[in-house]
Amino acid sequence: MTTPYNSALVTGASRGIGEAIVRRFRARDMVVHAAALPDQALLDMATETGAIAHGIDLRDTAALAAMMDGLEVDVLVNNAGILPELQPFAASTPATIDALLDVNLRAALHVTNLALPGMIARDRGHIFFMGSIAGKHPTPNTATYGATKAALQAFAEGLRCDLLGSSIRVTVLMPGRVQTRLYDGIFGGNDKATEALYDDFDAIQPDDIATVITHALDLPARVDLTTIEVLPTKQIFGGSTISRNR
Ligand SMILES: NC(=O)c1ccc[n+]([C@@H]2O[C@H](COP(=O)([O-])OP(=O)(O)OC[C@H]3O[C@@H](n4cnc5c(N)ncnc54)[C@H](OP(=O)(O)O)[C@@H]3O)[C@@H](O)[C@H]2O)c1
Repeated sequence: MTTPYNSALVTGASRGIGEAIVRRFRARDMVVHAAALPDQALLDMATETGAIAHGIDLRDTAALAAMMDGLEVDVLVNNAGILPELQPFAASTPATIDALLDVNLRAALHVTNLALPGMIARDRGHIFFMGSIAGKHPTPNTATYGATKAALQAFAEGLRCDLLGSSIRVTVLMPGRVQTRLYDGIFGGNDKATEALYDDFDAIQPDDIATVITHALDLPARVDLTTIEVLPTKQIFGGSTISRNR
């Protein structure tokens, strides 16, 4: 299967969902720029797949500008994200609040801002944002994380307004639980704790998200799949419960 798009930048590309997307794009012979914190995992994945590795801390705005200088891509996947804590907001530290906003939201806006002029000039592009179902259905202990994801959704809606008349598509994905290492920061690499997250249901796999993205890419240019909720079949959000003061 070929795609009308020839090149891509994927952030958060060293593992999990981002890595699966890089592999899928490379299998379609796209030129793929893979950005993540500089480590061996990123380099190994790039060597194996033929992607171009960009070791970068996406919170560093100057480094972002340097990475994007002269870089032309048809597809941008703003995927990098962190979930460093699961606790009531009152227990969050200023550093954690800033890190969540910086990686999940601010970096995505900066990368998009840097990629857009070229896309507009070529009238060609598809921008993805990796939101989360947490941005739509708030859950306890993830208030800031959910806020960043809701903000991405709001931003994408506004961006689509700004791009009216262009051929550039904007898509937000809102996955439920995907089996990755996103929770490593919380569980400190405790494999049993991480595995327990996926015990109860058949979690979505990173490759499934890559499939959803390629479906969106392959739709006719006149079709923009704007928001995609992707839940495990055995996970629901809904119903209603009454919480009482205790
Ligand atoms: N897993 C889920 O259940 C789920 C559900 C809904 C949405 N999402 C979203 O999906 C996206 C991908 O998450 P994932 O589950 O694949 O998690 P993951 O396995 O932890 O991957 C996160 C990626 O982001 C990179 N990253 C983190 N901080 C960075 C920074 N400051 N600069 C550059 N790269 C950075 C990581 O690089 P390093 O490996 O070098 O740290 C890694 O490549 C996130 O936006 C997440 O919020 C995940």
